Amino acid sequence: MQLHFSPSMRSITISSNNGFIDLMKIKVAACHISYRTLFHTILILAFLLPFVFILTALVTLEGVNKCSSLDCLGRRLGPRLLGRTDNSARLVKDFYNILNEVKTGEIPSSLNLPDSFDQMVSDMKDNKYDAKTFALMLKGMMEKFEKEIRESKFAELMNKHFAASSVPKGINCLSLRLTDEYSSNAHARKQLPPPELLPMLSDNSYHHFILSTDNILAASVVVASTVQSSQKPENIVFHVITDKKTYAAMHSWFALNPPSPAIVEVKGIHQFDWLTRENVPVLEAVESQNGVRDYYHGNHLLGANLSDTNPRKFASKLQARSPKYISLLNHIRIYIPELFPNLDKVVFLDDDVVVQRDLSPLWEIEMNGKVNGAVETCRGEDDWVMSKHLKNYFNFSHPLIAGHLDPDECAWAYGMNVFDLRTWRTSNIRETYHSWLKENLRSNMTMWKLGTLPPALIAFRGHVYPIDSSWHMLGLGYQNKTNVEDVKMAAVIHYNGQSKPWLEIGFEHLRPFWNKYVNYSNDFVRNCNIMDS
Ligand SMILES: *[C@@H]1O[C@H](CO)[C@@H](O)[C@H](O)[C@H]1NC(C)=O
Ligand SMILES: *[C@@H]1O[C@H](CO)[C@@H](O)[C@H](O)[C@H]1NC(C)=O
Ligand SMILES: *[C@@H]1O[C@H](CO)[C@@H](O)[C@H](O)[C@H]1NC(C)=O
Ligand SMILES: *[C@@H]1O[C@H](CO)[C@@H](O)[C@H](O)[C@H]1NC(C)=O
Ligand SMILES: *[C@@H]1O[C@H](CO)[C@@H](O)[C@H](O)[C@H]1NC(C)=O
Repeated sequence: MQLHFSPSMRSITISSNNGFIDLMKIKVAACHISYRTLFHTILILAFLLPFVFILTALVTLEGVNKCSSLDCLGRRLGPRLLGRTDNSARLVKDFYNILNEVKTGEIPSSLNLPDSFDQMVSDMKDNKYDAKTFALMLKGMMEKFEKEIRESKFAELMNKHFAASSVPKGINCLSLRLTDEYSSNAHARKQLPPPELLPMLSDNSYHHFILSTDNILAASVVVASTVQSSQKPENIVFHVITDKKTYAAMHSWFALNPPSPAIVEVKGIHQFDWLTRENVPVLEAVESQNGVRDYYHGNHLLGANLSDTNPRKFASKLQARSPKYISLLNHIRIYIPELFPNLDKVVFLDDDVVVQRDLSPLWEIEMNGKVNGAVETCRGEDDWVMSKHLKNYFNFSHPLIAGHLDPDECAWAYGMNVFDLRTWRTSNIRETYHSWLKENLRSNMTMWKLGTLPPALIAFRGHVYPIDSSWHMLGLGYQNKTNVEDVKMAAVIHYNGQSKPWLEIGFEHLRPFWNKYVNYSNDFVRNCNIMDS
């Protein structure tokens, strides 16, 4: 009987010459079974095959196989390893106790772990270990390997995070060239929409869409897909909101590529008189607080305690801290009623969606006095994206949260929302939003992670009208398990998550749904080397 560890510790082979257990190979792939599992496997083996295990496992570890008989092994290792040799049952019990003790105990920090199993084996040859030290070593090494694997997993997530938060060269180039065009080409500067269409911007017989982004390519896809999927594109008015630095480029794009017959207006946040310090005090505070800035730039993550988290939680933490989630462009949706004082009902779209169906029925929905028509995210096949309750967003150990919210209440999604602005103006949604943001700032952001959804989940409580989930399919930027048939059927698909279709880390099989609406024959797109991959 032999127990054989491969050098990388990825497999254990148990073989027996007498045909007892013929050949049993346990493959331990690093990503499937943790070394902790392996440790437990060995404990169980130790229990089942006690005496033989102890004696043979130690010396048949790679490279140490000088003794060919059990007797020899027993003589060499027995007394020293086990302390006494009176009878085997006793030995087994002792050793099992030792293993158990070690299993629950801490590894003493003074214990010098060998760097490799080879090292361990050669130390062992020199008879350095007693049984307890050996067991501790075994456990320590397994934990060390497990930690290394976890850390490399987290490093991978970090890299992915930075890949996800940086602006790809092509999109940056597009922005620069279009800004240039704005100053050199009168067509790029022409009034948008032309003066004769200005009244449509506040005409409630049109279908008004609002989009807030600094990503021109993404904006072009949202607008193009909405217009091309519409049965009455002449009925569409788009209000594209962008920041000051992107304004010229965004304006150039839509001036040079009007999605006619739809109407587009481009607004910079600097052009809204209403957006003053007095009206948005909290955002000022959020954006200027240095601590917060460090926080969302991820500096603290490098020193984070990785043993109390898991890759999934870590990924969502990273996501919540991306600069995007704290920018004014992202918070702006809470000010729509004030920014568009003449509009009654609008559809708000995120920049990472693609519209695949005519959305005009959304204006027909009778919302029964509710403000926000949204898809609920606590029911659905996708057990990650569609299993969101308030407990997923809030820290229920915080007394204010525990006192005000129900952890099992269903959450809903931003990305495609029908807003009844008339009803909204009669509510105190914005005040609630502000007061909770302030409260969270005061509690050092312990009530929820940074982001715009949690305060909105509170502010819109009682004002949400659930719409059918086929209107808005989420999760295309999270995982590649997304069901492609469902994607084809959905009215709006949403690449929420890190893997945006314009990034290299986007999922290849989901990209065509987005690429379809990029105009690759456009000179600016071509000259910036943005290509259909
Ligand atoms: C990390 O978290 C774990 C579990 O919460 C805790 O036992 C450990 O002491 C922490 N380590 C550090 C360095 O804070
Ligand atoms: C917030 O953090 C600061 C320093 O990081 C600390 O001095 C202060 O007591 C904290 N406040 C609360 C409410 O925890
Ligand atoms: C949750 O709230 C409690 C109580 O305020 C606080 O001690 C804890 O640190 C918070 N947790 C997180 C992750 O912020
Ligand atoms: C999903 O990812 C896995 C590995 O990450 C890959 O093997 C699989 O082919 C991918 N599935 C699709 C549909 O792309
Ligand atoms: C793509 O861009 C080109 C050049 O700007 C333009 O002529 C063409 O109409 C655009 N195609 C679509 C589908 O918008």
